[in-house]
Amino acid sequence: MTTTRIFYDAVAEDYAEMFAEELAGPRDGAVLADFAELVNRGGGGQVADLGCGPGRTTAHLASLGLDVFGLDLSGSMLEIARRENPDLPFRQGSMLELDIPDRTLAGAVSWYSSIHTPVDRLPSLFAEFHRVLAPGGHLLLAFQAGDHPLTLDRPFGHPVRLDFERRRPEAMAELLEAAGFALRSRTVREANPELGESSAQAFLTGRKTAAVL
Ligand SMILES: C[S@@+](CC[C@H](N)C(=O)[O-])C[C@H]1O[C@@H](n2cnc3c(N)ncnc32)[C@H](O)[C@@H]1O
Repeated sequence: MTTTRIFYDAVAEDYAEMFAEELAGPRDGAVLADFAELVNRGGGGQVADLGCGPGRTTAHLASLGLDVFGLDLSGSMLEIARRENPDLPFRQGSMLELDIPDRTLAGAVSWYSSIHTPVDRLPSLFAEFHRVLAPGGHLLLAFQAGDHPLTLDRPFGHPVRLDFERRRPEAMAELLEAAGFALRSRTVREANPELGESSAQAFLTGRKTAAVL
């Protein structure tokens, strides 16, 4: 986590500038719209954008009528998120250890943020998502599909390095189910080279099953 935080602190301004056009609105809007509709149809409630980076997804979810806050490890990312979205709440923390009471959230989104969590920590990450969601709450995960990580070394000339994991959607789906989620959708789209993508993109939604008493 320290490596991840240092990496994103170093690249935050360049990251936000490079993706400026995309920051205006997430490119996979249909997936986010579907998620927002599910949460809204269930009566709404608080939603966390976990690993929110510069806040583009947080802002988009808010525009879809969700009561959303962003959380990230990186203070520099959060500075940008607050600057760009002064009306939205953002807080610093790790999604592996959330300062959020049990069973409180209507929804949680991890939009390309689980890609730095080592594979052996994914069960703990999904257990943490499950803990903070209310029964019936919805989870959305976005990540690059594939088998091999991409390593970014000295991005934008900064002396930092980080692995970006690619994962098999079916393996992630199994882990979500093991953590207590009922898988609702599994979407994989091909890489779009115009967006600089070199791998397919995967989106999973799951629902925390209501407790059986
Ligand atoms: C690839 S960026 C995606 C940012 C944002 N979701 C977006 O799509 O623009 C990954 C983000 O996840 C954050 N992140 C990674 N691991 C985290 C953790 N354990 N807790 C909180 N944030 C984390 C990083 O700091 C970084 O801002």
